[in-house]
Amino acid sequence: MADELRVGVAGLGTVGASVVRILDRQANALAGRGGRPVRVTAVSARDRIRDRGVDVSGYEWFDDPVALGRSGSVDCVVELVGGSDGPAKDIVEAALAAGKHVVTANKALLAKHGLALARLAESNGVALAFEASAAGGIPVVKTLREALPGNRITRLYGILNGTCNYILSRMELEGLTFAACLADAQRLGYAEADPTFDVEGYDTAHKLAILTSLAFGTEIDAEAVYVEGIAKIAPLDLKMADELGYRVKLLGVAERTDTGIEQRVHPTMVPKSSAIAQVMGVTNAVTVDADAVRELTLIGPGAGGDPTASAVVADIADVAAGLIGPPFGRPASLLERAERAPMQRHEGGYYIRLTVRDRPGAAAGVATRMAQADISLESILQKRSETAASQDPHGRSGAPVPLVLITYAATEAAIRETLDKIAADGLVSEPPQVIRIERE
Ligand SMILES: NC(=O)c1ccc[n+]([C@@H]2O[C@H](COP(=O)([O-])OP(=O)(O)OC[C@H]3O[C@@H](n4cnc5c(N)ncnc54)[C@H](OP(=O)(O)O)[C@@H]3O)[C@@H](O)[C@H]2O)c1
Repeated sequence: MADELRVGVAGLGTVGASVVRILDRQANALAGRGGRPVRVTAVSARDRIRDRGVDVSGYEWFDDPVALGRSGSVDCVVELVGGSDGPAKDIVEAALAAGKHVVTANKALLAKHGLALARLAESNGVALAFEASAAGGIPVVKTLREALPGNRITRLYGILNGTCNYILSRMELEGLTFAACLADAQRLGYAEADPTFDVEGYDTAHKLAILTSLAFGTEIDAEAVYVEGIAKIAPLDLKMADELGYRVKLLGVAERTDTGIEQRVHPTMVPKSSAIAQVMGVTNAVTVDADAVRELTLIGPGAGGDPTASAVVADIADVAAGLIGPPFGRPASLLERAERAPMQRHEGGYYIRLTVRDRPGAAAGVATRMAQADISLESILQKRSETAASQDPHGRSGAPVPLVLITYAATEAAIRETLDKIAADGLVSEPPQVIRIERE
């Protein structure tokens, strides 16, 4: 049998501790698969005496994870510290420069520095593997990099943040507010104490940027991602979506368009019959549209210690077996610099909920503005409460009422301009709610 693969694990938190446990549990299977033993030899974290539910006393301990990164006693460095800069970046750079393979789950690091790190890995002839960085336990990186070369991918979209999907699922099923569901998610450990990164869509954006690069063979460009979170979604929107045959999901969408590659993260209405609409709770899913395979959907756990460690261990197994290719599936020098498709040119259907002043001609005024902009309406729904209707023989109360419009395909620019005109006309009393509809 060939020499063993000596693994150093930097970061022994939720994922790191699971990785150490699984590598031990699967030692025989990994040795058989890779033709060489795989063994943890070194670890690093901040607190040496913390009980991590896994015995690390037999491994060389590094107080400084960067020293582990360049240590002569490891061949493969597993970075599970986290963060786009700071120690995580230093560890990975030190390890790659020292000719060591790197496995990481760090989406923030890859989204920001993925291209430079891929170049460094390639120039040193080592692996930079990051299956766990997008959609946790779902093998989507491998699928995009290795399973679809016979395809031209046209679109990729996914539920890439379990916290947001948990919140939206509970809001929909139980009619609760965003704030109430967020508080529950925090209590159950699904959301961080500071949930901004998840609920404002940035975590999804990082993962999307990584998947976009793999799907389209482009240089990773996280700054090109348009990002909108879920905090403004109201229970009424989910109720209206249900009535109209949709569910609302926070999607990351990457699409080839005539104007370039569109990368966007926002609450999205998806038809209730679609595969992605069935994905509830903390589960993640990714759908790929491609010419040969048509539609492929992968569904599974997007986070958590063991599911994420499953993906990390898969990368370590590839390193052990010598399966080492360019990190993004093709040499970094061949990745295209993608044209950014501006969000204003995005074209699709829209759900628009307006809070219209209850006075004669208001709804007609809205419809007129839409018609002037050539925006065709698929449906219009006006909700009037029973009490409001009982106050006036014509059903008018003076109180604002929700008016919901579903448009056929229109551009973002046309929608925004028209909504500005409707506001200037004094027809609405609150800013509009706009949710984009994703076609199947
Ligand atoms: N958790 C998930 O479900 C999940 C899913 C997908 C991807 N990821 C990614 O996986 C990575 C790790 O996440 P996690 O949830 O396991 O994080 P975590 O529980 O916070 O663990 C981080 C670990 O890094 C150690 N650490 C932090 N700063 C350090 C420093 N300066 N020197 C040495 N060690 C340091 C910590 O040490 P102490 O324990 O001593 O404090 C801890 O063991 C992140 O990039 C994350 O985005 C996580």
